[in-house]
Amino acid sequence: MTYFRRHRRLRKHPGLRAMLQENQLRIQDLIYPIFVKEEGEGATEILSMPGIYQHTLDSLEEEIKEVLRLGIPAVLLFGIPAEKDALGSQAYASDGIIQQAIPVIKALAPDLLVTTDTCLCEYTDHGHCGCLDHAGYVLNDESLELHKKAAIAQARAGADIIAPSSAMDGFVHVIRQGLDEAGFPLVPIMSYAIKYSSAFYGPFRDAADSAPSFGDRKTYQMPVANRREAMRELASDIDEGADFVMVKPALAYMDIIRDVRERTDLPIVTYNVSGEFSMIKAASQNAWIDEESIVMESLLGMKRAGADLIITYFAKDVARWLSATE
Ligand code: PBG
Ligand code: ZN
Repeated sequence: MTYFRRHRRLRKHPGLRAMLQENQLRIQDLIYPIFVKEEGEGATEILSMPGIYQHTLDSLEEEIKEVLRLGIPAVLLFGIPAEKDALGSQAYASDGIIQQAIPVIKALAPDLLVTTDTCLCEYTDHGHCGCLDHAGYVLNDESLELHKKAAIAQARAGADIIAPSSAMDGFVHVIRQGLDEAGFPLVPIMSYAIKYSSAFYGPFRDAADSAPSFGDRKTYQMPVANRREAMRELASDIDEGADFVMVKPALAYMDIIRDVRERTDLPIVTYNVSGEFSMIKAASQNAWIDEESIVMESLLGMKRAGADLIITYFAKDVARWLSATE
């Protein structure tokens, strides 16, 4: 060959580089997780997640106003109840903390999309995502009945999107049926379809006070080494009527996001989880890395892998960075 290809020809001019950018991260892609605690006064910062708070119904208002100001379209709510029990009853009590928080948010921000995480681990005294048999095994179908009640309670309180995360078999099917029967056929389900049993959830379990008191979540969440199994999880949730499918965590599972993109035309959500957030925060607080560049590169990577939407604790920062460059 007497000729070689000059790729740098298209990289010389900044305007041309911008025109040729293949993937974009937009404020509209972001979902911001918020923790709401029933007890106590004011916001409590989570030690392992700098800048992220457990809010009370009072401090929630300021947070929502800021989310609105920044143009973030959606939030994802997690509740921390005052009382826990074996069946997680505060998850589906009509006056449970999330059922109280939704109207507070809707009064301030009627157009903000309120997504609710539907699970029991924050509400059970044992910290598992469902109810247990005598040996401590997490029961599947019995747990589904409780998840269904929680989803209906959230929809009744005004939730716009239901996001079941318990990783039980059939959770989309049972929750869809429950929502339809309760009169919410138009409330979509954002399924945590592919949820790995990951150590990256560590800081979240401090934030949500939801660490299991014994054992781990390996009998229901997915083994981290498996890729074909993820496709089976995906297929069943699509069959059961999921409206969005999620891959969680994000950074160590970009191959899975791509696999999902190639198999479904449904919207894909990925969860940039707490451990991914805390690692970047810790390194940037030490000035070992540049936070903005690292976050934008990571999130753009998720888009490039095939994600449509990203749940991220960085949502407010990203919204600020994106509006500064517009
Ligand atoms: C509840 C739930 C978890 C996360 C979201 N929903 C924790 C878990 O499964 O233990 C993790 C989110 C994060 O780490 O940011 N089932
Ligand atoms: Zn759970």
